[in-house]
Amino acid sequence: MLVSATEMLQKAKAGHYAVGQFNINNLEWTKAILLTAQELNSPVILGVSEGAGKYMAGYKTVVGMVKGMIEEQNITVPVALHLDHGSYDHCYKCLEAGFSSIMFDGSHYSIEENVAKTTELVKAAHAKGVSIEAEVGSIGGEEDGVIGMGECADPKECKAIADLGVDFLAAGIGNIHGKYPANWAGLSFETLDAIQQLTGDLPLVLHGGTGIPADMIKKAISLGVAKINVNTECQLSFAAATREYIEAGKDQQGKGYDPRKLLAPGFEAIKATVKEKMELFGSVGKA
Ligand code: 13P
Repeated sequence: MLVSATEMLQKAKAGHYAVGQFNINNLEWTKAILLTAQELNSPVILGVSEGAGKYMAGYKTVVGMVKGMIEEQNITVPVALHLDHGSYDHCYKCLEAGFSSIMFDGSHYSIEENVAKTTELVKAAHAKGVSIEAEVGSIGGEEDGVIGMGECADPKECKAIADLGVDFLAAGIGNIHGKYPANWAGLSFETLDAIQQLTGDLPLVLHGGTGIPADMIKKAISLGVAKINVNTECQLSFAAATREYIEAGKDQQGKGYDPRKLLAPGFEAIKATVKEKMELFGSVGKA
């Protein structure tokens, strides 16, 4: 069964740990993350970007796969299936398809329009028992080879969006998606602290979890971050393990070309990355 992410994140915020959102791309990704969560008795959030949803043949396909896997693999830890950086239209598509959590990324609209659309989507999500994340201050990243620096959100705008009844809030604090450039200034804990002071118990979300040093992750959790998104790091470990297998010529030995063998090292690599993150975030044993 899928659950909304509200309860697991409220518990995480109160307990001073964070729940990982790990983005999925296919069956191997989903299975690696769910099995690791179960082995470590950790709650987990499966993130699906619009692009990944399209790649996996649509949101309904994803819901079917995840629900089926939870049942067949006896996954009993809390699992939320969450739309990552959703547009207004795709939030509705995911509500219809059976997601248990959505993110509306209205950070590129004016604050007035972000407020109007978020207000409407909060109502629509809650009517279905689905949790909703909103974003203030856009989170940069690499686009066409140019790395945009992460913005710092305005704490007052964060408070305005928090007051609309969203269940958790992503606020830019200098974080970006993908690898961090060598000259990255680090997270702005001053901004995070100011946001938490205005938003109180609301769980805060840290995007761009890949490559943030462990001490910064711990400090962010101590200042109210209760959900940390990780995507690129699983992709990098999957790619490295797959490369090693092929470069060793293993796909040409026996039936090493069988996808169940070819994808196995990458699958194990995702499991190891997810385990490392769950240990760092403190969610092990919190299911
Ligand atoms: P990374 O790809 O940098 O880990 O970021 C993931 C993320 O924030 C998804 O929303």
